[in-house]
Amino acid sequence: MPNNFQASFPLSRPRRLRQNKVIQSINAEISSNIEIDRLIYPVFILAGEKQKIEIKSMPGIYRFSLDELLKELEEICELGINKVALFPVIEQGQKDKTAQEAYNPNNLINTALRVIKKEFPNLCLITDVALDPFTKHGHDGICDENNYILNDETINILVKMALCQAEAGADIIAPSDMMDGRILAIRKALEQNKFHNTLIMAYSAKYASGFYGPFREALSSSLQFGDKTSYQLNPANAKEAEKEILLDINEGADLIMVKPGMPYLDIIYRASQISHLPIIAYSVSGEYSMFKSAALNGYLDERKVVEESILCFRRAGCQAVITYYAKQLALWQK
Ligand code: PBG
Repeated sequence: MPNNFQASFPLSRPRRLRQNKVIQSINAEISSNIEIDRLIYPVFILAGEKQKIEIKSMPGIYRFSLDELLKELEEICELGINKVALFPVIEQGQKDKTAQEAYNPNNLINTALRVIKKEFPNLCLITDVALDPFTKHGHDGICDENNYILNDETINILVKMALCQAEAGADIIAPSDMMDGRILAIRKALEQNKFHNTLIMAYSAKYASGFYGPFREALSSSLQFGDKTSYQLNPANAKEAEKEILLDINEGADLIMVKPGMPYLDIIYRASQISHLPIIAYSVSGEYSMFKSAALNGYLDERKVVEESILCFRRAGCQAVITYYAKQLALWQK
């Protein structure tokens, strides 16, 4: 664009385009309507019956036993939400060094998948592939004697885990572990086992973030040593995120995720510029906690700021948002 393209005042008065709601709507670059079918609702599932336990740092968000979860899913389907991401809360006794429970075909998540798929055949089920719910130390992979997370050994387990989930009815497999080469390994295994239509949503640009704190509380998966910086990205890096995204595209990912969400809008924008695949943002647990605590204190207008943040995600270039506010957003639209 030539830099003198813009007529100057008073020929140009940018406020003419903002003078009233009707003109504003012509001027809108994207729709400011909240599209419920662009939201993905994360839910926590726990063993047992008649359990609905609130997560302390996430008021309004619960861990459900399967029977209670089915009621919740019924509600959200009626509200128009058609995608959920499932996260299992594993009992301490079932966690071990090699995460064996992760690829038990009858574990909590796989059992739940079968039931949910049967009850809600049109609900898109997304499952997390990483070992942190299943290891005692809370890391996403298995580690050696120096507590270094082993890449290729972890991938072997992730592949088994992904196959169990696909078998049990997952529509989208979402590897959140950040091991190198896992998308290729999982894609190949899915193809070999004829799961041609099972999608992979790669957590490609997943940062080593403090914003996951409440999630780890929800899963009782807080780290027993170290941090996740030897596999998750440094918040200082953007080019490295682009590298990860391009690698995952080459390895056969169908959807690309950026996580956390709000402090990483530049990464979403970059992702949308370099990728022809849909970009999904994950507005994580800590983001929810921030909105919620400000709202509960009366410091912010909850609905206004949450809806604004969804709009900003869309403007930054993503197609869908994973948000703990999905149900509340749908309720507000009614
Ligand atoms: C596990 C996983 C995490 C989240 C989603 N999958 C935590 C982590 O990597 O430590 C965080 C989600 C949230 O905070 O809402 N790999």
